Amino acid sequence: MKRYLVQTFGCQMNVHDSRRIEEVLDANGYQPADEPAAADVIILNTCSVREKAEQKLRSMVGTYKGLKALRPDLVIVVAGCVAQQEGEKLLRRVPHLDVVIGPDNIVELPMLIEHMRDGAAPIARTVFDTEAPTFLVAQPRPNAHEVTSYVTVMKGCDERCTYCIVPYTRGPERYRAADEIVGEIARMAHGGVREITLLGQTVNSWHSQGAGEGESEFPALLRRIAREVPSLARLRYTSPHPRHLTEALIDAHAELAVLPRHVHLPVQSGSDRMLKRMLRRYTAADYVRRVDALRERVPGLTLSTDMIVGFPGETDEDFEQTLTLVRRVGFVSLFGFKYSPRPYTPALKLDDDVSEEKKDERLQRLFALSDELQTAHLASLVGSRASVLVESRDPAGPDRYSGRSERHELVHFDAPAGVDPRGLLVEVDIVDAYKHSLHGLMEGGLPFAPPPPKRSPVRLPVASA
Ligand code: 5AD
Ligand code: SF4
Repeated sequence: MKRYLVQTFGCQMNVHDSRRIEEVLDANGYQPADEPAAADVIILNTCSVREKAEQKLRSMVGTYKGLKALRPDLVIVVAGCVAQQEGEKLLRRVPHLDVVIGPDNIVELPMLIEHMRDGAAPIARTVFDTEAPTFLVAQPRPNAHEVTSYVTVMKGCDERCTYCIVPYTRGPERYRAADEIVGEIARMAHGGVREITLLGQTVNSWHSQGAGEGESEFPALLRRIAREVPSLARLRYTSPHPRHLTEALIDAHAELAVLPRHVHLPVQSGSDRMLKRMLRRYTAADYVRRVDALRERVPGLTLSTDMIVGFPGETDEDFEQTLTLVRRVGFVSLFGFKYSPRPYTPALKLDDDVSEEKKDERLQRLFALSDELQTAHLASLVGSRASVLVESRDPAGPDRYSGRSERHELVHFDAPAGVDPRGLLVEVDIVDAYKHSLHGLMEGGLPFAPPPPKRSPVRLPVASA
């Protein structure tokens, strides 16, 4: 019996791809290994969106050099975006590497591993399936108590945000047929999954293959899923592009109960000058107008976002506009990144002129503001009730569980003794707010004496939320 180990770096798309890699290997008679020393095949599924992620991969590949020297029959594979980006070059640079495989070539992996075992030379397969796009079908894992899962609706990206390597590493947009998407979600739901997150680089631009750009059929897809998979508790999506936050999508949010009151909507900057240089194709005012319209129809909806600081040419004034936008929108959480020049991207032609110290300082200020907003938001929920989809046991106590509220707050709570609510939507009374999460009591639950919190809980007057 051959054993494999998959190690994942980077985004949700990669986590999802890693599952497909595991399923392809499972279907070919492989079994998972618990640790590298027990594996016959080690797969590093990589990310190249920012340089840091890429460096992590390089040091990780390096750590397997010794293992490979001890066991020459060990097959080491690099998959994902770095694989796609570097291809053959990676094989030349890392002599102990056996297979380099792009995101569209995962199905070929078992065959390539077998070739290696038969003595073939190291090989790189990084071909996009643009002619006949295929989507590997996700399999439910009923024994894993999986409450939330992902379903891909499209791959690739036709946007050309000037800082971004994804159009290069993931190729042009290809859309999955609605029947396939709905079928996969129905199978997942049948297998016990309660929440699905639809995945795509610009997920809300989804349309059936063949329909023209500008004719997003994403709201219709959401309606169809809601109608045909009524057992689904929640339907999320990531990551949408602000320019496809259309009236029709806002209508869907207002009308479909399965869509939670939270959207992650990357904005990247609050400065129109930067947004233009990034080729984002909206202004800060456009963004605000659209999210205001959404919140008007869905009161209480929370927003989170991605921000880049230190993009070429970003002045103190541009950065102040980013902070102003963060306050204006009131993001309840955000992912902030220092601009990182990436190969093959148009922004390489711009001078990376913001010093590392400035980037650090801006990122710290951005995080400080984000923490301030998040703390105030969470504190305002103390005394309210949240509807929580229970995802997992929490090691902090015997009857303690955690999950997400409808508005995506992380909630740890105490359930009644002996009740296992995983997979259920339960009502939780919020009693404490911490820096990044809430603590509550499920109806009928007894308060469990928690270990002292890392930070003292924040209590503000009970809000009307
Ligand atoms: N530098 C810094 N951040 C980047 N992102 C994408 N490319 C870069 C880059 N070159 C960020 C964006 C995107 C998130 C996934 O990663 O904010 O939304
Ligand atoms: Fe990259 Fe822009 Fe496409 Fe997102 S929309 S994947 S940031 S090019």
